Amino acid sequence: MKIFRFLIIPILVLFSNTSASHAEVFGIKLNNQSDTDTNTFVSPFKEDNERCFKCHGQSKYEYTNETLGRQVKELMYSERIVKRELYYNSNHKKFSCTDCHSAEYLKFPHAGELRMEQKYNCIDCHGGDEKFAQYHFEEIDAEYQKSIHFKLEGEGFSCWKCHDPHSYKISVRNQDNLKETIAYDNAICLNCHSNFDHFQLLTDKEEISLIQKHDWLPNQATHFKSVRCIECHTKINDSIKISHLILPKEEAVKRCNECHSQNSILMASLYKFESKAQRRDGFFNGIILNESYVIGANRNEYLNLLSLIIFVGVAGVIGIHILLRIREKNKTY
Ligand code: HEC
Ligand code: HEC
Ligand code: HEC
Ligand code: HEC
Ligand code: HEC
Ligand code: HEC
Ligand code: HEC
Repeated sequence: MKIFRFLIIPILVLFSNTSASHAEVFGIKLNNQSDTDTNTFVSPFKEDNERCFKCHGQSKYEYTNETLGRQVKELMYSERIVKRELYYNSNHKKFSCTDCHSAEYLKFPHAGELRMEQKYNCIDCHGGDEKFAQYHFEEIDAEYQKSIHFKLEGEGFSCWKCHDPHSYKISVRNQDNLKETIAYDNAICLNCHSNFDHFQLLTDKEEISLIQKHDWLPNQATHFKSVRCIECHTKINDSIKISHLILPKEEAVKRCNECHSQNSILMASLYKFESKAQRRDGFFNGIILNESYVIGANRNEYLNLLSLIIFVGVAGVIGIHILLRIREKNKTY
C-alpha cells in the first residue's frame, strides 16, 4: 500500500494540471460540506427567506415576463445559488437575507444599482463586541491587513472570500473530527488555489499547479490530509486560534523538521487547542498521536531509553568479545 502511494504521487504530478487531480491529492470534494446535514434549526425568517430561495435556492427559477405575458423558466448561475442546508447550518443562520442585502432585492428584475450595494464587513458587526471577545476579531483584522492577500482588496478580496457569507461555520474550535476540519479549512484555500475561475478574478497571474509547486513534499496526499495549508503559510500567533497572517511564499515552512521534531510547530498550530488529555505513555507530543504518527515529533522516551540500553549492551558485548579474543591470542603464543 505504501509503495503504491509512493508511485501514485509522481504519476499524479506528471499528469496533473486539472483541478480534478487536485481534488484527488487533496482528498476532498472542493465544496466539502455535506448537503445532507441533519439540521433541526428553524429560522424565524424561514418564510421571508423563501422569497429569495425560490429563485436562489436551486438551479431553476421562474418569473412572470410582463412583456410576453407568461411564466418564463431560466437557469440560475451556479455562483448565484445559495444552498438552504448550508445556510441554515452556518454561523449566520438566524439572519434574514434582507438583514445583509437591500430589501429592494424583493423586486425582480433586480435594480441595476443594487450591484453597487455596500456590503457589511465582519468588523462592522463584530468589532468591539464583548460577546465575541473570545474570537479576537480586531487582532484577526490587523493580521489580515498584513497578509499577502490584503493587497488584493482593490480587486475585491475581503474576509468574505474565505468566509462564505452563506455557508461559513466555525470548525476547528468545535471540532470532534480533526481530519474533517483539516479538509474544511483547506477547501477554503483551494476554492481559489485550485479553481482558476475564482483565482483569475483577483489577479493576472497564470494558473499555477499546487501539486507541482509542492512536489518537494513527499507523500503529498498524506500530508494534505494531515496538515492544513495555514500550518506552513502563516506566522504563528499565540493569542488567536487561527493565525490570519499569510506570508509571502518565500517565508513558507519548507524544512521537514519544523514538524518532524520534538518541538514541532504543529503543537502551536493544529494541535494548539486540543482539549484531549495529554497521553501518558511516554510519547512526546502525544496529542498528535490521536490523529497521526509524525516521524520525529512522536518519539517515545521509553523507546529512546530502550534503544540506548540496547546500544550500550551491544557495545559491551563487542568489547568483552574483543578482550577475550586478545586473551586467547596471547595464550596461543
Ligand atoms: C424571480 C427570481 C429572483 C428572486 C425572487 C430573487 N432573485 Fe436575486 N437574482 C436573480 C437573478 C436571475 C440574478 C442574476 C441576475 C442579476 O444580477 O440580476 C440575481 C442576482 C442577485 C444578486 C447578485 C447581484 C450582483 O451583484 O450580481 C443578489 C445579491 C441577489 N440576487 C439577492 C437576492 C435576494 C436577497 C433576494 C430576496 C430578497 C432575491 N435575490 C430574490 C433572481 C431572483
Ligand atoms: C451575513 C450577511 C449575509 C446574509 C445573511 C446573506 N448574505 Fe448574501 N451576500 C453577503 C455578502 C457579503 C455577499 C458578497 C460576497 C462576496 O463578495 O464574495 C453576498 C452575496 C450574495 C449573492 C451573490 C452571489 C454570491 O454568492 O456572491 C447572492 C445571490 C446572495 N448573496 C443571496 C443571499 C440570499 C438568498 C440570502 C438569504 C438566504 C443571503 N444572501 C443572506 C452577505 C449576506
Ligand atoms: C450584519 C452583521 C454581521 C456581519 C457582517 C458578520 N457577522 Fe458574524 N455574527 C453576527 C451575529 C449577530 C452573530 C450571532 C448569531 C447568533 O446568535 O446565532 C454572529 C455570529 C458569528 C460567529 C459565531 C459566534 C458564536 O459564538 O456562535 C462567527 C464565528 C462569526 N459570526 C464570524 C463572522 C465573520 C468571520 C464575518 C465576516 C466574514 C462575520 N461574522 C460577519 C453578525 C454579523
Ligand atoms: C485566506 C483566507 C482567510 C481570510 C482572508 C480570512 N479568514 Fe478567517 N479563517 C480562515 C480559516 C481557514 C479559518 C479556520 C476555520 C475553522 O476551522 O473554524 C478562519 C477562522 C476565523 C475565525 C474563527 C476563529 C476561532 O477562534 O474559531 C474568525 C472569527 C475569523 N476567521 C475572522 C476573520 C476576519 C474578521 C477576517 C477578515 C479581517 C478573516 N477571518 C479573513 C481563513 C481566512
Ligand atoms: C508542508 C508545508 C506546506 C503545506 C502543507 C502547504 N504549502 Fe504551499 N508552499 C509551501 C512552500 C515551502 C512553498 C514555496 C515553494 C517554493 O517556492 O519552492 C509553497 C508555495 C505555495 C504557493 C505559491 C506558489 C507560487 O509559486 O506562486 C501557493 C499559492 C501555496 N503554496 C498554496 C498552498 C495551499 C492552498 C495549501 C493547502 C492546500 C498549501 N500551500 C499547503 C509549503 C506548504
Ligand atoms: C478568493 C481567492 C483566494 C483564496 C480564498 C485564497 N487565496 Fe491565496 N492567493 C489568491 C490570489 C489571487 C493570489 C495571487 C496574488 C498575487 O497576484 O500576487 C494568492 C496568493 C497566495 C500565495 C502566494 C503568495 C506569494 O508570495 O506569491 C499564497 C502562499 C497563498 N495565496 C496562500 C493561501 C492560503 C494558505 C489560503 C487559505 C487560508 C488562500 N491563499 C486563500 C487568492 C486566494
Ligand atoms: C507542516 C508540518 C509538516 C512538514 C513541514 C513536513 N511534514 Fe511530513 N508529516 C507531517 C504529518 C502531520 C504527518 C503524519 C501523516 C499521518 O500519518 O497522518 C507526516 C508524515 C510524513 C511521512 C510518512 C507518510 C506516510 O505515508 O505515512 C513522511 C515520509 C514524511 N512526513 C516526510 C516529510 C519530509 C521529507 C518533509 C520535508 C520535505 C516533511 N515530511 C515535512 C507533517 C509535516
